[in-house]
Amino acid sequence: MQYEVKYRDGPNYGKDATGTFNQHTVDFIQNRFCVYRNFIPKEVIDIHMDVWKTIEASQDMTDAVFDAEVEPIPNSPSSSKYTSKGGHTTPMGVSMHRWIHKKLANEFDLRLEATYSFTRKYDRGAYLKAHCDRPSCEVSATICTGYASDDGEPWTIWVDNTRNWVDEGQGDQEKIFNETQGVPMRKRKGIPIKLEVGDLLLYQGPNVIHWRDHFLGNYSYHMFLHFFARSVSKLDRITNEDHEFYWETEKYEGSTVGNPRSVLMYDGRDNPYRQKNDPADRENELRFSKWMELYEKCPNKSSYVNNYDDLEINKK
Ligand SMILES: [Fe+2]
Repeated sequence: MQYEVKYRDGPNYGKDATGTFNQHTVDFIQNRFCVYRNFIPKEVIDIHMDVWKTIEASQDMTDAVFDAEVEPIPNSPSSSKYTSKGGHTTPMGVSMHRWIHKKLANEFDLRLEATYSFTRKYDRGAYLKAHCDRPSCEVSATICTGYASDDGEPWTIWVDNTRNWVDEGQGDQEKIFNETQGVPMRKRKGIPIKLEVGDLLLYQGPNVIHWRDHFLGNYSYHMFLHFFARSVSKLDRITNEDHEFYWETEKYEGSTVGNPRSVLMYDGRDNPYRQKNDPADRENELRFSKWMELYEKCPNKSSYVNNYDDLEINKK
């Protein structure tokens, strides 16, 4: 199914927004998530797992690339502490991020700008407490690259899209938990999703609550690849004279979109390869953190992050 997209009103009324949207794009906009099955070929997974397992085989390399996480999300059950290892900007995360960005350019109809990737291995007993994400995760992909579970099934991720959580999402974490993951299983309104190796879940990170219950198995390897919806995002409207969102700059390494660059590009780093908070990226990090302060104070985030209200979407 293909959809025709126009701006609903305002000065651009009737103009094509970005032409035609496919079903995945419309699902992403209307349901706040979509699932691509068999998105990543086995050869690509194998390349990434070879890199990951080489790192894992060496304690020195593991220590350099990963942090032993106390808990991925604050106030997780104490039994789940130290059951995961995670890394921002790992070698396999960076290359998978680029590969998925390129493939989504053909399979998803919003133009995306890369922010950052995160790589995590969960061990037995791991737990991902209900939460939503920051604006660098406006469009988020999650994938599993390998697992060994007790029941032979992939570890379920839950997504609650019953309302737009972005205005309350990063406020009271306990309230969010109590209304989603904390609800008894038979009364949950969230949607359980099983992602086989090669499948990809694309979701509105700040707008949907997502979580995973206790993991029963030996290991589960995951990557999280984050973007912002550059072509239609309204995040650039959160600005004032001291906090510019776009600015003209020289062409930068790894650029896929050209000038100007946005404050969210590479999550405030100069290029996709630098670790977060590298002193060399001070200028961009400062722009990023100043803008984040503005975002945090913004009372009506739903007007900006993943707001597609001005798009009129009709079946062709
Ligand atoms: Fe998340």
